[in-house]
Amino acid sequence: MNAMGKPPVAAEHFIAAMGLAATGVSVVTTDGPQGRFGLTVSAVSSVSADPPLILVCINRRSPAAAAVDANGLFAVSILGAGHRAYAETFSGRPREGRPFDFSHHAWRDGDTGLPLVEDATAAFECEIHQHLDAGTHRIFIGRVVAAHRGSAEPLVYCNRAFRRIVHLTKETEP
Ligand SMILES: Cc1cc2nc3c(=O)[nH]c(=O)nc-3n(C[C@H](O)[C@H](O)[C@H](O)COP(=O)(O)O)c2cc1C
Repeated sequence: MNAMGKPPVAAEHFIAAMGLAATGVSVVTTDGPQGRFGLTVSAVSSVSADPPLILVCINRRSPAAAAVDANGLFAVSILGAGHRAYAETFSGRPREGRPFDFSHHAWRDGDTGLPLVEDATAAFECEIHQHLDAGTHRIFIGRVVAAHRGSAEPLVYCNRAFRRIVHLTKETEP
């Protein structure tokens, strides 16, 4: 069957279906002449191991996109199951404190000086390798200059809810 030329699905249908995909949750941070910004993202992916590249998709309306562009550096902290409050603050919906405010949470300096979430599941510090615009978003591909491993189980987001991993055993298997 030839599906070429069909109109795209409506955005709400796309969002409803894509929302069923389980993803990790990360906070992208940047710092430099353009200032310090953080944003909660699920659109993070490994791209290549040699050279080590990852990508992150940021809405171009977000001030974080312009800041990453201008600073030329970004870090991705993969949140642990106990880091839900970071995800809420950096998506602009904190239960306590101010939206997008770094002072309410614990950070450590990465090798590049970028802020990393304290005790993140993993964290990557990147220099911008390439970027391209696709629809509403800018895809930043970062060359990974430092990679950090933590021990926290990852936070998961699916169907508009934060979740944690359940290990499948005979007892927990659906
Ligand atoms: C779990 C989760 C995942 C998100 N993933 C992304 C993402 O991958 N890219 C992005 O640009 N915004 C993402 N967002 C949205 C931003 O964190 C933020 O909420 C949004 O940019 C705020 O804009 P608004 O005030 O216009 O809604 C995500 C939010 C949540 C809660």
